[in-house]
This record gives sequence, structure tokens and C-alpha cells, in this order.
Amino acid sequence: MSQAKVGLGIAGIGRAFSFMIPTFRGDPRIEVMAGADPRPEARARFASDFGARAYESVEELCANPAVDAIYIASPHQFHAPQVEIAAAHGKHVLVEKPMALSLEECRRMIAATRKAGTHLIVGHSHSFDAPIMKTRALVASGAYGDLRMITAMNFTDFLYRPRRPEELDSAQGGGAVYNQAPHQVEMLRLIGGGRVKSVRAMTGMWDAARPTEGAYTAFLTFENGCAATMTYSGYGHFDSDEFSNWIAESGLPKDPAKYGASRAAILQSGDSARETALKNARNYGGADYADTSSASTRQHQQFGLVIASCERADLRPFPDGVRIYGDLAETFDALPPPGVPRSEVMDELVGAVCDNVAPLHSGEWSMATMEVCLALLESSRKNCEIMLQHQVGIGEVHG
Ligand SMILES: NC(=O)c1ccc[n+]([C@@H]2O[C@H](COP(=O)([O-])OP(=O)(O)OC[C@H]3O[C@@H](n4cnc5c(N)ncnc54)[C@H](O)[C@@H]3O)[C@@H](O)[C@H]2O)c1
Repeated sequence: MSQAKVGLGIAGIGRAFSFMIPTFRGDPRIEVMAGADPRPEARARFASDFGARAYESVEELCANPAVDAIYIASPHQFHAPQVEIAAAHGKHVLVEKPMALSLEECRRMIAATRKAGTHLIVGHSHSFDAPIMKTRALVASGAYGDLRMITAMNFTDFLYRPRRPEELDSAQGGGAVYNQAPHQVEMLRLIGGGRVKSVRAMTGMWDAARPTEGAYTAFLTFENGCAATMTYSGYGHFDSDEFSNWIAESGLPKDPAKYGASRAAILQSGDSARETALKNARNYGGADYADTSSASTRQHQQFGLVIASCERADLRPFPDGVRIYGDLAETFDALPPPGVPRSEVMDELVGAVCDNVAPLHSGEWSMATMEVCLALLESSRKNCEIMLQHQVGIGEVHG
């Protein structure tokens, strides 16, 4: 092992970063060294919370020699150019989902880190969640026969969370397909072995005031013969956290009595400028930022109902383990609560940076996920099935 700790630089000190704070604070293998963000209030809070330098530009951040790896959590359109900047400075990269807006950008990101000899990891996504990993391990064990079918669904208030204008514009990576499908596709690909053969989908834009995809439903076939269905609605009606005993996506308890609160806040905000102000106020460094990083009653994170149907059992991940519905008995494979949330992401990052272990959520793996997501949009637009060409299996590098 070349080093004991990863010196981390943060590019984009916003909402995604705030979700990672418990991980960065709780994992002794990580040291947050510096950050970069155009928002002065985010820089000020970051400097005070982490005692670390906060720059205005990602170029300055990447020039910091104490930084081994850059966590890129800026808006999607900056992912590809910032990976290229980080790689040019010899840095490893953890970049948020969606990896990028096009397959061409994904190729550039892979090429840049290959040329630099650094690792590229895409995450966090919910395929890192321990119950999903456990489900994959149970399928791969062969104990329940071949995997035949996967069913996934998630119903949330995604479309009614405060948004920047581009988050409501599909051409700029807005909507549920770019933002939420990567989670579901990654979970399905991980459980199903990775290689999706075809996609047939319908996407939905049902609210003219928020004209981007808020919902989709899709049918996927895998090269290994498994089939999957995947449904998502972000229209804030039914909430599938009900299926996880009201444990929210974050692994924290949710109060179902707050039904409709997101939509009500958006309606009150009135226009796009005030909505952006609402988002900024709630964001890291903003006046209404709620720091949940020290919350103690946490289970594993989750992204809706998932059922993996093998020949002799249905496997269903929950935030505290995997329920196995076998032929004659139903059992529960409990998982210990996460000591540090999302530590699985740090396992891959530390493995890559310190021990040169190729990450599972590599650039190639994640480009294949983007191919599925883009196929959802294309299938819906053309009203036909889309055959895929850039898929990789678990641990494979070339498609
Ligand atoms: N994995 C997850 O759970 C998760 C959750 C939320 C967001 N995300 C992803 O993280 C990314 C950011 O989304 P968000 O919701 O945090 O948005 P956000 O607007 O809350 O945060 C983005 C931050 O980046 C900053 N920024 C803008 N331009 C920048 C630039 N050129 N260089 C550096 N920083 C810049 C903004 O000021 C802001 O602080 C998106 O790609 C999104 O898909 C992932």
C-alpha cells in the first residue's frame, strides 16, 4: 500500500456534497483537504467546517499537491471537463452520477484518466448500497438457481424538490432519466450481471410547469436471458418509502405526515428565480441549510422496491438486510447498520488510490449505465426497442 489516507478535493460544494459529509467525516481513511465552488457562502462554510482551503475554480483546486483525488459534485455539464482537468493534474476522480450527458463525454473522461494513469470511479449510486451488494452476492452464489427477472419501482417527490432552471430542462440533463435512472439502472445491472441487451421505455412529462421527464417505465433484457422492469415516478403522489417501513432514501426515518410538503413549498416559491433562491437557501452554506450529518438512527440507504426473482427464491433488499422468499420458508439475512453511511464508495476510492485496485464502478461500467439511460429517452422518442452496444459485465473493462 502506497499511502494510508486519501487527500480529497471537492469540486462543487452543494447538495450532493452535503450528502457525503457523514461519509467524509466518519471515514478515517479520508481527509478533506480543499474544495472549489463559485458560491461564496458554500466556500465560507466549507472553510469553517473543514478548516480547509476553498477555491473559486476547479483548476486552482486541482493544482493543490495535497489532493490525491477529486470528488466532482458540480452540475452534470461540468463533469466531463472537470474530469479532464483533474486527470491533467494527475488526480484520481470520483465523479457523481450521471457520469455525463453523452457517450462521447464518457469516452473523453475514460481516455483522460487512462492517459494520466489515474482511476475514474462514478458514484455515489444506490448500487453501492450494502443490501443491493448483498442481493448481488446471493444471486451470484447460485444457491437459488438462475436469475430470471428483476422488478424495480420507486415513487418519490423528485420533481418537486427545489431546482435550478437547468434541472428542469432535459436538453441540459434535467429530469428523472438523467438524475434518477442511473441509480435504478446501476442496481439492476449490478444484480443482473451488467450486460443489458435491449431497452424499451416510455417516459412521461406530465406537468407543463416543470417540462422535463418526471416519470418513466422500462423493460430491459439482459444478454444472460434475465428480464427486468423498472418504473419511476417523481410526481410526489404515492411514496414507495412506504415499502421500506418509512426509511427514506438517506437511510433515515421519514415522517409520512409531511405528505405534499415539497409540492406546497414549490407552489409557494412562485417563480423560477425564487425557486433557485429557495434551493440556495437550503443548500450547503445557505441560511436554511439543515445539517443531518450527525443523525444517529440510520439504516442502509435505499432506492425503492427491488425484487430479484431466481428460479427458487425471490430476493428483496430492505434497508436492514435482504429477505429471501424461498420455496418453503421465508428468511431474513440481516445486515449490521452502516457504521459510516456510503462507506462502500470510500472502499472503492481508497482501494483504487492506495492499492491500485480497479474499481467496480469504473468509467467503462458507468458509460454502459449512461447508454441504458440514453436508450430510455431514445426508445420513448422513437417508440421502439433500442439495442445496446457498449455494455460491460461486472469487472470487465472493454465493451
Ligand atoms: N448521488 C447522489 O445521491 C446525488 C444527490 C444529489 C446530486 N447528485 C449529483 O451531484 C451533482 C450536483 O447536484 P446537486 O444537487 O448537488 O446540485 P447543487 O446545485 O446543489 O450543487 C452543485 C454545486 O456545484 C457548484 N458549482 C456550480 N458550477 C460549478 C463549477 N463550474 N465548478 C465547481 N462547482 C460548481 C454550485 O455552486 C453548487 O454549490 C449532479 O450531477 C447530481 O446528479 C448526486
